[in-house]
Amino acid sequence: PFDLYRAHLTNVLTKVTGVDASLVYPALQWTTGLDKGDLILATPALRVKGKKPDVLAAEWVAAFPADDPLVEAPTVNGYFVQFFFKPLPLLKYTLPLIQQQGCHFGDNKALGLRDAQDPSKGKKTIVIEFSSPNIAKPFHAGHLRSTIIGGFLANLYAGAGWDVVRINYLGDWGKQYGLLALAFERYGDEAALERDPINHLYELYVKINKELAVEKDQMDALKKEGKTDEAAKIAETGLDEQARQYFRKMTDGDAAAVAQWRRFRDMSIVRYRDTYARLNIVFDSYSGESQVPEAAMEASAQKMAELNITEESEGALIVDFSKHVAGKEGKRLERPLVRKRDGTALYLTRDISELLSRQERYHFDKMIYVVASQQDLHLKQLFKIIELMGYQAIADKCQHINFGLVLGMSTRKGTVKFLDDILRDVADKMHEVMRANEVKYAQVENPEATADILGISAVMVQDMTGKRINNYTFDMDKMTSFEGDTGPYLQYAHARVCSIERRANLTAQDLATADPNLLNEPHAINIVRLLAQWPDVVQNTLKTLEPTTVLTYLFKMTHALSSSYDHLQVVGSEPELLKARLSLYVSARIVLNNGMRLLGLSPVDRM
Ligand code: ARG
Repeated sequence: PFDLYRAHLTNVLTKVTGVDASLVYPALQWTTGLDKGDLILATPALRVKGKKPDVLAAEWVAAFPADDPLVEAPTVNGYFVQFFFKPLPLLKYTLPLIQQQGCHFGDNKALGLRDAQDPSKGKKTIVIEFSSPNIAKPFHAGHLRSTIIGGFLANLYAGAGWDVVRINYLGDWGKQYGLLALAFERYGDEAALERDPINHLYELYVKINKELAVEKDQMDALKKEGKTDEAAKIAETGLDEQARQYFRKMTDGDAAAVAQWRRFRDMSIVRYRDTYARLNIVFDSYSGESQVPEAAMEASAQKMAELNITEESEGALIVDFSKHVAGKEGKRLERPLVRKRDGTALYLTRDISELLSRQERYHFDKMIYVVASQQDLHLKQLFKIIELMGYQAIADKCQHINFGLVLGMSTRKGTVKFLDDILRDVADKMHEVMRANEVKYAQVENPEATADILGISAVMVQDMTGKRINNYTFDMDKMTSFEGDTGPYLQYAHARVCSIERRANLTAQDLATADPNLLNEPHAINIVRLLAQWPDVVQNTLKTLEPTTVLTYLFKMTHALSSSYDHLQVVGSEPELLKARLSLYVSARIVLNNGMRLLGLSPVDRM
């Protein structure tokens, strides 16, 4: 719970235990279940020597003042001391606080915490790179997860008081974009490009890659027949070589080639922007592989050469980590290429320069890469190279937030290529689920828009349900169900409280005079104790960086709410009782809303 309780208990326990407050305060932890108390103290954390922890726990409990104004007599559980808050003071303190702070309840600022501040320069800056799809290629499940998790992390740090820079590092450079330009020359359709650039470019991309595959087969066949001359001729003049040359024109800054590519890129970004907006995400910068200047890469290459980090291998440049990092780790990092034989840079080369330039541009205190765990090795290599280049301090600020796979992501239409397709398909399915309940469906004002939001919630909640690193199966039926811990259920729980609020129709002033003495039922007390945990849940999430930390809490909250309605009737109760209970439910709605928005969901008021 909030500082008030922690500070109070620290004060009392310092006297009881004789241990310094600086040890007591952090040792007071929130509990994972209310049956274990509201706060818990692990006695070993106070580092008192000479007595067994469970003996100490018993002694401290015995010495705890019997008439504490905020906390009941503590209980011993092994070497833990459990503290249960007295309901009435908790209600008196918590409900008005939540109603005053509203959407800020749970933020660091509201909590009075300043850990996002650097005393010398004020706010700390975090750069979060996420989503990062590849232009003209499908937006696959990895990008979907990166988008969802990255958006959430950005909200989390913003709420904690950091300056957040959201970067989308597009895959928008390389020979394949030379190939794409050739495809447009051959089969491009201006109107189709204007109408739907992402899909049109993808069509071109697929078509030209088929041709490329045919060319490759031809060459293989010729080689097999011993016709090496003919094969070599294709290699010199064929599509692959043309693409290479076109890309060379792009890197050399040929105006027409660059302009064409830039058009594709800009048009794609316009579309991406719309889609991200549906997920409540706005990027501060669309960087990308194309934006890394050749000169910067040249400088990094020189530095690596001077420090003997790179070495030649068959005409290319590699980093042989076994020579720089001792033991197994050196082997594990392998021998990545940083420059091809023809002198072109690679994915890793660009990441090295990009990271250094981000440090210069943003002076970040922390940088997070939200990228699938398939790229674990790539990011380890990147961070290690930065370290070897002498930038240990920068490497220490970088963190790879990884995540597992999405299995079975095909939808009913089987056309999932881009985020838009996924969202459209889920919205359609959601609409169908809603329509199955005819009576309720008739009352929904704008079914299409509601289905869209619920569909997005369904996808996001399914994604955030487990730990990030776990794989999960994309299950359209399960995620769109109103039963179980799903997005639609969470939205329903929120909308239900909103509806009670509408029907009760009281003002904030009315609520301010609510009498907490009337909230003495176990269900009410259970809810307020959960509400009091929210700021701690946020603090804990800043440690775990797991959306599921928030989601697990929100579902506990929705379960507590749904089992309370039969016991805590609002509309129809006598006025004072109605007021008190509504005050509880309004507080619950605020916390649900804050939690949902932290995750990036758009809470609905009606459905
Ligand atoms: N565009 C890449 C992909 O689709 C992801 C980029 C990850 N970020 C990075 N800095 N390498 O695989």
